[in-house]
Amino acid sequence: MISSRFWGETETSCSTAAYWGYLHCDPTASHYLKVLLDAIFGPENFRNEIMWHYGGRGAKAVASQFPRNHDVLLLYSKADGEQVHNRQYLTRRYTPDEARARGLRQDPDGRWFKTAPRGDYTDDSVSRLEKEGRIHRTRTGSVRVKYFLGGSAGSVEEAVLVGDTWNDIPDAMHLGHELLGYPTQKPLALLERVLAASSNPGDVVLDPFCGCGTALVAAQKLDRRWIGIDVTYLSIAVMRARLKDSFALVDVPVVGQPTEVEGARAMLVGTGLEGQYQFQWWALDLIGAQPQGGAQKKGADRGIDGVISFSTGPRGEMGRALVSVKSGSVNSSQIRDLKGVLDREKAEIGLFVTLEEPSGPMQLEATTAGVYTSALSGRDYPRIQILTIRELLEGNIRPNLPVLVLPAFQQAERVAKKAAEQGELFG
Ligand SMILES: C[S@@+](CC[C@H](N)C(=O)[O-])C[C@H]1O[C@@H](n2cnc3c(N)ncnc32)[C@H](O)[C@@H]1O
Repeated sequence: MISSRFWGETETSCSTAAYWGYLHCDPTASHYLKVLLDAIFGPENFRNEIMWHYGGRGAKAVASQFPRNHDVLLLYSKADGEQVHNRQYLTRRYTPDEARARGLRQDPDGRWFKTAPRGDYTDDSVSRLEKEGRIHRTRTGSVRVKYFLGGSAGSVEEAVLVGDTWNDIPDAMHLGHELLGYPTQKPLALLERVLAASSNPGDVVLDPFCGCGTALVAAQKLDRRWIGIDVTYLSIAVMRARLKDSFALVDVPVVGQPTEVEGARAMLVGTGLEGQYQFQWWALDLIGAQPQGGAQKKGADRGIDGVISFSTGPRGEMGRALVSVKSGSVNSSQIRDLKGVLDREKAEIGLFVTLEEPSGPMQLEATTAGVYTSALSGRDYPRIQILTIRELLEGNIRPNLPVLVLPAFQQAERVAKKAAEQGELFG
């Protein structure tokens, strides 16, 4: 299965001068996809097959085989001029005893160094390095070049070049603080390495299968511009919440969403149950609600499609607005059902979001539910609120809720970086 593909390009006078592309998948299909990519990009543009060993806990123990614990990233690149490849290093730390055991040495000034053969260095270069104190002669007289290491008195630091086997990045499942509940979420460190190695600040990164937006967060953090594409509205909702929580980026432009009722209706034509889920996620995103059961679970849960949380008291007490989304015909009994759900769940407010216009009796039924009075502000809020897609799209109406509203999704960590200037990517 293709997990995701990342694509970057640098531009000169609007003509593409260079690109690099990563495709990430697991070993069940990586060999087929390599053949496919060779056909598309040319075998001469293949650069690396990277083994991402994501750690033991992600491995499934199956009696008849070795546990699977790696994925594959295929890297292709092409450039008219110089290829972008920024070497990546890991820092390894040793005690002095460990350093000596690894063959590292100390010069008379106490500086730790390692040596490597002189390789292609000319005699002139060796003389220059000798003057800089960077030549080590072995007992047999052969010349080796010294590379000084960092660290302090008690610890020695060695910068190790990252090769094509990555085993220092655990699966996202291990990163509790990063997890957003989006299935197939990838660790930020993985995407950061990809972008740091193959692009420079200002380059454009395109992730055409961006899920909950890990590549976009990495790009924003590293000052790249970005475009993300995903086919599900759940992904768009999670991604928008993530960019807001991580960088205070609000109003990220989303292209291709319905902007009028007919567009919303078109989501349902010939798409069956899947279309109804997409409509539901889109409608929930429209009012900033969290899908019931988090990002993973499809479908209504006992009459509840989504939820918005808000403060009800001075000591962090929380209340809930339960959301019911309807894409088909609507009637008064559905309003009565929502009232029943509020009573059963002991929830404060019910939001009834509908594509079709509500009837007079439905409006009347809603008013009989009365009001919720906020203990914080003393204000009254209609206990059942009917919101039509038309009014929401026209911007005439929003859910009428107490002001302090919690984030819709598992909140993404704030990323320490100013929001970069994204510029105009679409003409
Ligand atoms: C493996 S996930 C990507 C995960 C992502 N790297 C992250 O960290 O969240 C693949 C994504 O591709 C999306 N997808 C599947 N088919 C698609 C299509 N034809 N066009 C755009 N997106 C698609 C899915 O909705 C899913 O979110």
